[in-house]
Amino acid sequence: MSSIAESGAATGGAPGLAWSVDALVTATGGHLVQGGVARKFTEITTDSRSAIKDGVFVAIEGERLDGHAFIDDALKRACGCLIVRKPTRAPAGVSVIKVADTLRALGDVAHYHRKRVGPKVLAITGSNGKTTTKEMVYAILERSRLEGRPLRGKVLKTEGNFNNLVGLPLTLLRLRGPEKAAVVEIGTNRPGEIQRLTEIADPDIGLITSVAAAHLSGLGTVAGVAREKGALFRTMNRRGVAVVNMDDARIQRASVGFKGEKVIYGDNGTIRAEDSQVARTGGQRFVLRLGRARLAVRLRLCGAHNLHNAVGASAMAYALGVDPDGIRKGLEAMRPVSMRMELERWQGMGVINDTYNANPASMDAALKTLCALPGRGRRLAVLGDMLEMGRTTDRCHRELGHSVVREGVDALYLLGEFAEATRSGALRAGMDPATVTVGTSHPQLGLAVRAGARKGDWILFKGSRGSAMEQVLTAFKGEGV
Ligand SMILES: Nc1ncnc2c1ncn2[C@@H]1O[C@H](COP(=O)(O)OP(=O)(O)OP(=O)(O)O)[C@@H](O)[C@H]1O
Ligand SMILES: [Mg+2]
Repeated sequence: MSSIAESGAATGGAPGLAWSVDALVTATGGHLVQGGVARKFTEITTDSRSAIKDGVFVAIEGERLDGHAFIDDALKRACGCLIVRKPTRAPAGVSVIKVADTLRALGDVAHYHRKRVGPKVLAITGSNGKTTTKEMVYAILERSRLEGRPLRGKVLKTEGNFNNLVGLPLTLLRLRGPEKAAVVEIGTNRPGEIQRLTEIADPDIGLITSVAAAHLSGLGTVAGVAREKGALFRTMNRRGVAVVNMDDARIQRASVGFKGEKVIYGDNGTIRAEDSQVARTGGQRFVLRLGRARLAVRLRLCGAHNLHNAVGASAMAYALGVDPDGIRKGLEAMRPVSMRMELERWQGMGVINDTYNANPASMDAALKTLCALPGRGRRLAVLGDMLEMGRTTDRCHRELGHSVVREGVDALYLLGEFAEATRSGALRAGMDPATVTVGTSHPQLGLAVRAGARKGDWILFKGSRGSAMEQVLTAFKGEGV
């Protein structure tokens, strides 16, 4: 999940749907402490650098920066309205709305906008696979028809990873009016965030991809993760549809109290994959069961976890009521999201770039995929740390060492503060010490992998965002060093 500060550099607005001061006051429940001259505002921004004439600047108090410090900058750019918590001096002519909490006000404004534009909102949360599933749903909807009309060009999606209390509102504020659907990712690293994000998005369709040990420093335990993710179903309007992953007992339990309609997916679900086969290229073929319908699908993404994401995305589209042909076309057009299980042939070797992020479940999924890829070549795993694991950090890395051996990895390359824990787990599980290398820097490890790799090998690069394992990949390829 991106931090508030990272998501802060953005703007949302709809030229055709201008904001009056009255609408902003109504949406936020704030007080107009100073009325201005402009009667209508267009863009709403949290970044003073993108403040524009007759725009609204919301002064967010983030973890690293306080937006109130940038009010003068926003005013220099002739912004016409400020939403603030702290006492603020602004020239006559500028409207100033005072609220108790500017982050909340941003969410309130986005909710108001979401309701007035009125698209079907599809919200995705979960420990792993949110961005991938969101991109799959988008790929499907862009090729689908709803009530006989094509959806192409009428679907909004979260850009990148804008999934937090700033990113989601800014995403919804990008609704321009003609959208019939919005596919949004919602993420959390603190209890209470999913509930609030669900209130803001008010989803018509909601999906929890998975519940696993991730962000434990904020959420405590896997039970804490389940409670937090489950807030999606607890908070959703009962007129909505819960799309339930039946392969995950925690998600199934989280859906029990949901009073609205449910669409069930997974091995025993109404929506499921059958007869899946790994293709020579690493992609996969399968039969998608949508109730009674059967569709033969070729997916370019590798890994059982991505097959599962594809089924979840199909279930969301099915819940929306789009045509099955759009589902097949969308899945077949889907390409890996950058740095998530990207397969590449490089100098006779197969490279998997999964460096975007890591936690125990996604490490397991990636190692399983690495070892299930076709061909006789060796399997090399180049792994960085798994961060934000709280008190379980050491144990998780030791267990990672076990998984490496269990899945059948031939050589292990490690980098980071917890490399020794992973190494000792692998050695305990029986790995030959001569096949384990602990690097001292990104470039040095990249060169070590290059020296050890042979034609025909498959090599997985993976670690948490903070581990920046893409730098090892760059050095491995001899780029940028
Ligand atoms: N269903 C899944 N189970 C386990 N791992 C998965 C699953 N789907 C994707 N992954 C892996 O999780 C990592 C992140 O994928 P993705 O960006 O789609 O997830 P995300 O939930 O959006 O992550 P973030 O919390 O960083 O936003 C990648 O390594 C990907 O291969
Ligand atoms: Mg994401």
